[in-house]
Amino acid sequence: MAVDLLLGLQWGDEGKGKIVDVLTSKYNIIARFQGGPNAGHTLVFNGKRHVLHTIPSGIFHEDAKNLVGNGVVIDPVIFKKELDKLEEQKVDYRKTLLISRKAHIILPTHRLLDAASEASKGKAKIGSTLKGIGPTYMDKTGRNGLRVGDLELSDWKERYRALADKHEAMIDFYNAEIQYDLAELETEFFEAVKLLKSLTFIDSEEYVYQSQKEGKTILAEGAQGSLLDIDFGTYPFVTSSNTTAAGACTGLGVAPNQIGDVFGIFKAYTTRVGSGPFPTELFDQDGETMAQVGQEFGATTGRARRCGWLDLVGLKYACQVNGVTQLMMMKADVLSGFKTLKVCTAYKYKGEVIEHFPYNIEPENVEPVYTEFEGWSEDLTKMSEYSHLPKALNTYIDFLEKALETPITIVSVGPDRKETIFR
Ligand code: IMP
Repeated sequence: MAVDLLLGLQWGDEGKGKIVDVLTSKYNIIARFQGGPNAGHTLVFNGKRHVLHTIPSGIFHEDAKNLVGNGVVIDPVIFKKELDKLEEQKVDYRKTLLISRKAHIILPTHRLLDAASEASKGKAKIGSTLKGIGPTYMDKTGRNGLRVGDLELSDWKERYRALADKHEAMIDFYNAEIQYDLAELETEFFEAVKLLKSLTFIDSEEYVYQSQKEGKTILAEGAQGSLLDIDFGTYPFVTSSNTTAAGACTGLGVAPNQIGDVFGIFKAYTTRVGSGPFPTELFDQDGETMAQVGQEFGATTGRARRCGWLDLVGLKYACQVNGVTQLMMMKADVLSGFKTLKVCTAYKYKGEVIEHFPYNIEPENVEPVYTEFEGWSEDLTKMSEYSHLPKALNTYIDFLEKALETPITIVSVGPDRKETIFR
């Protein structure tokens, strides 16, 4: 069976967690392929909100296996907190959670390095979640990292020490004013590693391969969004992994010809958290309304998200680099009440009108060109049938489908599992 992919098409926070949870009943295995605790995947069901950071969003379904792939970076301390919460919810994760031996581990000093590096950047800071993501992937590509499988070796603590000592010297180099008590952080880390070591470690690419041969259905779950991709995103204001479809191949060991459907998730408008260019960003009441109604605060850091109109140039680009086969539009309900909606259909780039996503979208180069749409006022959260959706919303959807040359198969009208309309 081919592996289906589910990815965010904007700057993250599109609502991937909700859709994975909705789709999990169709899959035997849910597999995360990149990112780490910088992600915050929110699921709402039975009146409760659950936030997952590293654990795949299929964990609440007892029949699905949940794989943390080799492309993911794991912070044992945050992982333990997630597991403790699952235990409180009586989720029997030991039976269903599998971890790749090749996934890399975030050390306490990776987090400190992230903080020191950001502090040293001053105004040019990325706005990182400070979870140690960048420094951990740097150690991975620099061939210095500590992997989950290393925890099974008798000398793993010596390997840990050598790496942490090196990090301490690097932290000194930054000369940043960060306060920390490493001994305290390490006590917490070693305690959390004990729990991690009690879980099931596997050679995950082999597991994925055999599962496919056995006809099991697999959904690969992405984190962050395509415009935060290390290669295709708005560099340097990006994360440190490939958030696009290719990341599922390297982050799980799935061969490119084994990819099936590619589900692209996008919000009916755009948000961004952290620094970096955002051509359609709003600084007026419309942006405020989106933030308030959409409760646009980061699930991981609690930071306010920047809001703006839908950027079709970015969305087209994301569909292209990912090979999206089906689109899923989230938070359509948030746009209820706007008299007029705008969609950015082109950029005025260095004086010329272009429709592709260029090398650089800094505000001095890019001015959005908008098409306007009539809004709708109906409360969508009470609707469960596609045929009940307001005419103006259908016009909006039809326009997007045509422009993106891809069907929109799900329209989400609220955070709950049940507030999902299939087309
Ligand atoms: P890092 O991956 O924590 O280093 O953060 C790099 C950039 O990506 C920052 O602008 C973050 O705000 C952003 N970012 C990282 N993870 C997420 C996410 O899950 N959702 C939205 N933005 C994210």
